[in-house]
Amino acid sequence: MATILLLHGPNLNQLGKRDAAQYGSLSLPALEALVKKEAEARGHTVKAFQSNHEGALIDWLQKESEGARGIIVNPGALTHYSYALHDALLDTKLPAVEVHLSDIISRESWRTVSVTAPACIAQISGKKEHGYIEALETLAPHLQ
Ligand code: DQA
Repeated sequence: MATILLLHGPNLNQLGKRDAAQYGSLSLPALEALVKKEAEARGHTVKAFQSNHEGALIDWLQKESEGARGIIVNPGALTHYSYALHDALLDTKLPAVEVHLSDIISRESWRTVSVTAPACIAQISGKKEHGYIEALETLAPHLQ
């Protein structure tokens, strides 16, 4: 059994109230519950955290990565400019999958750039909550 870290960045606590056409209609607690259920069905546990603050996300990653085997991360807008989060992900030495609910490639040009994705083994974008299930499948071979 592996522990997977599920990390959400700024504004994702507002899921359910944000633009459903981009982000789907699930609230963050509902999304976290879905990922936990799917992970448990695969024999894994999930530790989830969300913050609107870059430093809090990095503090949590540094603390929790010790006992974990993989990461699913939706950095929100930090995706597009946080080299600090990039480095924190890299420093965990854990396989991380970056997930975006919306299709960041088909939106504003500034969203098409991810500075955090190079610290991840894969990026999944535009599949709403289904992207998180795909992330579990992507992590699976790395959790053995
Ligand atoms: C997002 C995409 C980001 O560009 C945006 O800033 C978000 C959510 C997504 O899940 O589609 O807050 O990461």
